[in-house]
Amino acid sequence: MCGIVGYVGSRPVTPILLDGLGKLEYRGYDSAGVAVWNGDRIEVEKAKGRLSVLRENTCGGVHPVGCIGIGHTRWATHGKPSDINSHPQTSGTGRTAVVHNGIIENYYELRQYLISQGVQFVSDTDTEVVAQLFEYYYNGDLLATATRVVGVLEGSYALGILNADHPDTMVALRRDAPLLVGVGEGENFIASDVAAILKYTRDVYYIDDKEIALVRKQGVEVYDQYGRKVDKELRHVDWDVQAAEKGGYEHFFLKEIMEQPEAVRATISPRIKNGRVELEIPLSDEDIRKFDKIYIAACGSAYYVGVAAGYLLEELLRVPTTVQLASEFRYQNPIVDEKTLVIIISQSGETADSRAALREAKSRGATTLAVVNVVGSSIAREADMSLYTWAGPEISVATTKAYSTQLAALYLLAIKMADARRSITDERYAELVRAVEALPTLIERALGIKEQVQQLAAKWFSAEHVFFIGRNTDYAVTLEGALKLKELSYTMSEAYAGGELKHGPISLIEDGTPVMAVMTGARLFDKTLSNVKEVLARGASIAAIVGESARDISTEADCILRVPDCEPLFSASLSVIPLQFLAYYIASLKGCDIDKPRNLAKSVTVE
Ligand code: AGP
Ligand code: GLU
Repeated sequence: MCGIVGYVGSRPVTPILLDGLGKLEYRGYDSAGVAVWNGDRIEVEKAKGRLSVLRENTCGGVHPVGCIGIGHTRWATHGKPSDINSHPQTSGTGRTAVVHNGIIENYYELRQYLISQGVQFVSDTDTEVVAQLFEYYYNGDLLATATRVVGVLEGSYALGILNADHPDTMVALRRDAPLLVGVGEGENFIASDVAAILKYTRDVYYIDDKEIALVRKQGVEVYDQYGRKVDKELRHVDWDVQAAEKGGYEHFFLKEIMEQPEAVRATISPRIKNGRVELEIPLSDEDIRKFDKIYIAACGSAYYVGVAAGYLLEELLRVPTTVQLASEFRYQNPIVDEKTLVIIISQSGETADSRAALREAKSRGATTLAVVNVVGSSIAREADMSLYTWAGPEISVATTKAYSTQLAALYLLAIKMADARRSITDERYAELVRAVEALPTLIERALGIKEQVQQLAAKWFSAEHVFFIGRNTDYAVTLEGALKLKELSYTMSEAYAGGELKHGPISLIEDGTPVMAVMTGARLFDKTLSNVKEVLARGASIAAIVGESARDISTEADCILRVPDCEPLFSASLSVIPLQFLAYYIASLKGCDIDKPRNLAKSVTVE
């Protein structure tokens, strides 16, 4: 979800829009554009690619010429990055232009309805529906039209709208996506993020869900979804620009930890309708029943998501599921054929080893499914189908919200596939769907553990190495926890299956060795507790992540981190939260470069 800006006043608008979009570049995007009232019509300039392309196409902001306009940097969710899919999106007549952050979840139904009414669409985006719908409902009254649009849109949106009949007014509305109105002297702004307009004003109205703002040069009016006037408090922003880019957080990594409930919600909610999982991928029940084995191939954290998903898929589908590092998969002569489903997990969709694994799988006749965050990325384009995570741009090199949304997407896939294979009952299906739907709220609650983990970090930050142990899904999370700590704080960290310690690694345990036990699963709780006692007997310092209803183990663990209880198969989504915080606070105490750790790249596009 990227950035929108808008301006109305007496100054040339295009340079102001380009400047504002430039302040949002850090958020990652794939295309950009502006729409300006030029005195005669709404003139649109937009293109795939960097902002520099838009600057070139507008001769550095010389045109379009006007004093009111809207701009956008796009992070594609529906429709690959392309000129025609860039924003602003316009209605068929060109008399309405829209910029949008978020996902219109019911865009498909609205699109079909409008097509049945003779509307012709030109883009693949969900956003075009808003421009066409606004025009379809438009009755001469901007506010009345906006309230009708708000009444039918489902999903997340921050919208800036221009209409040629009202060339003095920007319409701004939002739901579940940030939007503010900046108040200047004889000029006013809209923006997704205060960073875009701090140069011009620090006085803002924060628009709330389903509110509608009419923004003119001479003033701002805000209404609720029913068209009733709302008195908003004018807020003064003290942040500097850099803090503003991080939403007030000190690092993107922490900001993105905190964004996980929203990111998981964005990934889940458009895909559950009336208690049924509906995935926008060409995978029929018949196709699903054809598979006699599943491979998962990925790298790094994405691979660790695969480990968690491997337990889940085997448990629910009763189909052999092999999880393999992409860099190994491609050279192991894998037993893959046309009855194999190969799942490639990748945030960037550009990881060389994962891309090569995908090609290897395709060359052997497998059906390939990519779980990716970047629409139109190489892996997304080359896989037979892509199940997108809607995490939005992930800036920090070490992943958090992409990891969590990959898990969520795979939960939905596993539920759908188990239902198709009738390997779960209808009751279990309904129970799993409810459990997935509950996750964003539970993750929100799990974030509350931050301060407790900060205290643990103060105890452990000087440790030379840290051990992580767990079993089954808890083991999968320990792998990610160890990687997070390595990546961010350069602390030697290792994850072991709890039952494996006694087969050698326990020789490393000595007095004071920090051991993090992840033991949220009730079924294996006592087994892991035995492993805890084994290392405790050798002097280890124990911290444990347990479910909130787990019994007290304060005789074994010095630090007990309780996360909300949830469906055991989905526990990784919650137990990973304290591990992300642990890596963050230990790295902070060690003065590490949190968002750009040494030697690391956000996407490893070489072998
Ligand atoms: C994540 O914290 C790491 N930076 C890294 O392991 C990453 O997960 C791995 O490189 C895979 O990247 P991808 O998801 O873009 O394919
Ligand atoms: N869902 C819209 C699109 O794919 C907006 C994406 C964004 O937030 O940039 O065009």
